[in-house]
Amino acid sequence: MIDPTARCPEWLIDRIINSGGSISFYKYMDLVLNDPENGFYSTGRLNIGKDGDFCTSPSLGNDFARLLAIQVVDWFLDLEKSGIESELFSLVEVGPGEGTLSRDLAIAIAEIAPALISKIEFVLVELNVGMRKRQEKVVNNFKGIYCRWCDLEDLISRPVTGVVIANEALDAFPVERLIFTGNKVFRQGVALRKINDEYFLEFVDLKPTSVIMKFLQESNSLLNIEFPPKDICDRWVTEWHCDLPTWFGKLSKVLSNGSLLVVDYAMESKRYYNANRKDGTLISYRNQKANTNILKDPGLSDLTAHLCIESTISYALINGWKFMGETRQGQALLALGLSSFLFSLQNTSSQDLSAALNRRESLLRLVDPMGLGEFRWLAFQKENSYDLILSNRFLEEPIS
Ligand SMILES: C[S@@+](CC[C@H](N)C(=O)[O-])C[C@H]1O[C@@H](n2cnc3c(N)ncnc32)[C@H](O)[C@@H]1O
Repeated sequence: MIDPTARCPEWLIDRIINSGGSISFYKYMDLVLNDPENGFYSTGRLNIGKDGDFCTSPSLGNDFARLLAIQVVDWFLDLEKSGIESELFSLVEVGPGEGTLSRDLAIAIAEIAPALISKIEFVLVELNVGMRKRQEKVVNNFKGIYCRWCDLEDLISRPVTGVVIANEALDAFPVERLIFTGNKVFRQGVALRKINDEYFLEFVDLKPTSVIMKFLQESNSLLNIEFPPKDICDRWVTEWHCDLPTWFGKLSKVLSNGSLLVVDYAMESKRYYNANRKDGTLISYRNQKANTNILKDPGLSDLTAHLCIESTISYALINGWKFMGETRQGQALLALGLSSFLFSLQNTSSQDLSAALNRRESLLRLVDPMGLGEFRWLAFQKENSYDLILSNRFLEEPIS
């Protein structure tokens, strides 16, 4: 049945017709987010923040960056102490969105470790021109940051030492969707249906590629669970973050020494590849509203898919990384001292009350187990023969 809200815009009609009448869901997600002229990110049409399409942790104020900076400084100091030779350390942010996290990290690092900040360059890895323009305004306006934009290929030709952060970036990577019906598996595709001279989008079943079949064959050993799980319903749908192996592989060539922190929507494979999760994890966002109709408003809304924790870790391990540990964002931020930030608000004077209440609300949102607090922090260290021990304060028991 056609969904009347899944109207297809002109530009996408052309793309689908030129591709023979249907495209894979992977291609669809890539086009609606990253198509240079029409994608939600590439046009820079979307806005991140309370008044925008969706909120991320850095968009709620600078407390997220101030807490994360404590961990980042620890890692830089560990690198410095280890005697690793590097003229300049790099803080690489992948998928920087509005650029606020890098800016606020720079300010916080300068406060916590003034001697360190002049030894750090900020490197922003942004796929989409529209977002990059927005980041330039935010980051370049802040004096004292040495910042450059690069893609992973440029960085591979001149590797860096330091810290890589990907906050809510990997959930925007296009995914393959897989449909299980009878004893068969299909690759989900998107096609056009013309009704009364108007084009609508609909899902179709496509033949799975050899790469998808290989993933399915390897998944038992990779995820250590039966895949697909027992007792799934007919047309059970799930996702596969097929770009992650290549991404981890490239990133391991970017970083000579140091750490990588991935923060994102993520869940264990048992919850992810579960018979009860019959429609996968994909969701669309526009004007702060989540929508499970992922064919609605192509190019005008965000699409996001959760990560599977075990497969993300496995892909990192086989592509040059050591796993240091993972925890929920709520725990991580409490371990880094969020409760002391909350406590300090008690001393607010009456004229600052409104700002203090806003800040309190943002701090609580960062650790809310029904919201951002449920995000996962996954930390990795570049695999090499160097005897470097990185301390992970965010994994410690929260201080009360
Ligand atoms: C959800 S936003 C991230 C928001 C930001 N990190 C924050 O915390 O507010 C996703 C960002 O990743 C970028 N992006 C998507 N795919 C990318 C890729 N393959 N490499 C680099 N950036 C990418 C998007 O253009 C966008 O800036």
